[in-house]
Amino acid sequence: MSEIEAILFDEKTIERRARELAAAISKDYAGRELVLVCILKGAVVFTADLMRYLSIPTTIEFIQASSYGDAAVSSRMITMKKDIDVDVKGKDVLLVDCIIDTGDTMAYVMERFREKGPASLEAVVLLDKKPRRRVDVAVKYIGYEIPDRFVVGYGLDYAQQYRCLPYIAALTPGAE
Ligand code: IMP
Ligand code: MG
Repeated sequence: MSEIEAILFDEKTIERRARELAAAISKDYAGRELVLVCILKGAVVFTADLMRYLSIPTTIEFIQASSYGDAAVSSRMITMKKDIDVDVKGKDVLLVDCIIDTGDTMAYVMERFREKGPASLEAVVLLDKKPRRRVDVAVKYIGYEIPDRFVVGYGLDYAQQYRCLPYIAALTPGAE
């Protein structure tokens, strides 16, 4: 049975870091109009916070990527389950995810978006599980680097549970 083992980032800590990221993004994109692309479902809470902390005009779009196969093997396939239906050609696009793990999802989404011809394309993630990365993908804004632990809360799930927790916690080892 899975259980919350420890709170890694509490609400206040998450808010402080999300505000810092938003300040950096607002500065970098000053005078431009940003398209935030929320990668469902995990990024929904982080995106909602980030967009309210930004001080520049933004629009928001949603995509959902779906992965088939095991993340532990290189045969994992990613597809776009839900794509955007607006034209982002010539726009400044910032992809938002709550966590980057192997990098497969972000690398795939970046490639799909590059084909859409944006003026710029960057990514922001709150958590970077760096020890597990196997694809070289450039993420410009990173909240925290974390060790190889399965985490839940603040949008992140285990079997669709725990997304609504306001903090980020580790599950008991082996639970995932
Ligand atoms: P990647 O393709 O391996 O980088 O995995 C990215 C996706 O896997 C994220 O968008 C999350 O949905 C999910 N994921 C990866 N690690 C965790 C975790 O520790 N907890 C919950 N979801 C995770
Ligand atoms: Mg999941």
